[in-house]
Amino acid sequence: MQKLPLILAIETSCDETAAAVVNNTTLVGQETYSQLSTHAEFGGVVPSLAKLEHQRKIDSVINAALNRANLPLEKIEAAAVTFGPGLAIALEIGLQKAKDIAISNNLPFIAVNHMHGHMFSSFADKDIASAQLPALAILVSGKHTELVLVKSLTEYTAIAETLDDACGEAFDKFARLVGLPYPGGPAVSNKAKTVEQQISLTTKQENGTLFCVAYNNITQKEFKLPIPLARAESANFSYSGLKTAIKNIVTKELGVTPDQNIQDIAEYIVQNPLSEETVNHLCYLFQATAFLQIKFGLKKVLKLYPEVKEFWLGGGVVANEYFRNMMEEMAAEYNVVLRVPSGNLSTDNAGMIGIAASLQWQNWQQSGGDLNNASKFGIYFDKDEIAKIDRVPNLPISTESVHL
Ligand code: KG4
Ligand code: ZN
Repeated sequence: MQKLPLILAIETSCDETAAAVVNNTTLVGQETYSQLSTHAEFGGVVPSLAKLEHQRKIDSVINAALNRANLPLEKIEAAAVTFGPGLAIALEIGLQKAKDIAISNNLPFIAVNHMHGHMFSSFADKDIASAQLPALAILVSGKHTELVLVKSLTEYTAIAETLDDACGEAFDKFARLVGLPYPGGPAVSNKAKTVEQQISLTTKQENGTLFCVAYNNITQKEFKLPIPLARAESANFSYSGLKTAIKNIVTKELGVTPDQNIQDIAEYIVQNPLSEETVNHLCYLFQATAFLQIKFGLKKVLKLYPEVKEFWLGGGVVANEYFRNMMEEMAAEYNVVLRVPSGNLSTDNAGMIGIAASLQWQNWQQSGGDLNNASKFGIYFDKDEIAKIDRVPNLPISTESVHL
């Protein structure tokens, strides 16, 4: 088989401006500029600010990635970029830059689905040929909570998804409610860790709803949260009920009416904080409940698809240690191989986009490498065609309707 091209990959779908150089699915240099401090005071990503930050940083980030790879732009053989899903005006910046680089340097252009990047992010330093299929990609990020059946390297089907909020989004909203900074996931996880030795976790059924109950052996306080859809037949997820339930607990603890919005409570709590031990206790319970839902969803999927041989974790939330331990236990119980993104490849980055782009190229080669077929794999050579490629903010993950 032909050698894969040396790829410069760009990612600007949300609030990370990122570039990477990937050689044969191996990451050789990357740079990520996180805009967190710009958006933190707003408690979430502000699209217009994200766009400005991407514009301001894109060139220096690309240069830094090339420097880290110790390569000049002239050595690059293809330009890859995320074209969806994501924020339209943020995607636009990376897309335009990648098109400019491809067109002005006569390079092929590879359009990549952001979620395919998360899906393959654990293969940065491993040969994907060693993967046993079918695999189940477990994708948990700020905007997605999805289980994807990977039947082959060109055939993916989403088999479960969130019906409302994403898991990471729920972490971010919960964090605001208890006065923790954005993004919520890392802050909640750190607080939860401080009380893990003193909390006993159980589940109990009440009026047809399953609850996760956290009892603190030291303070002797108990809080409980519902696990939505635990009893449903489908493996889908729901995080908006969890958000309402935790809001009710927080307002009760604060002694204020529960009908306020998160913004009002976040402002109130600055002057009237919850006690440290209550925050830590709630963080532990919230984290455990959010992840139990995924565990239950996985069990349902594995009953339907017992042939699954691997779990592939992807998305910002899978950086969570508690979640990783839970997945390790499940992988051992079901005798499947667990693939985890290394280093900082869980949260948004361009390395994963370069890896997905490399695999698209490899799949195209394996299909015969016919130039007329390249666009089916998201690969474009013609400058006019490259110029016309548009971003797709709601790009789905399944292969039925996208490139590949
Ligand atoms: O994949 P990502 O970087 O961006 C999206 O594509 O959405 O994911 C960001 C999300 C945020 O919601 C953040 O709170 C969450 O990942 N996150 C975590 C942790 N680190 C990041 N959630 C739970 N525990 C963590 N350690
Ligand atoms: Zn992402």
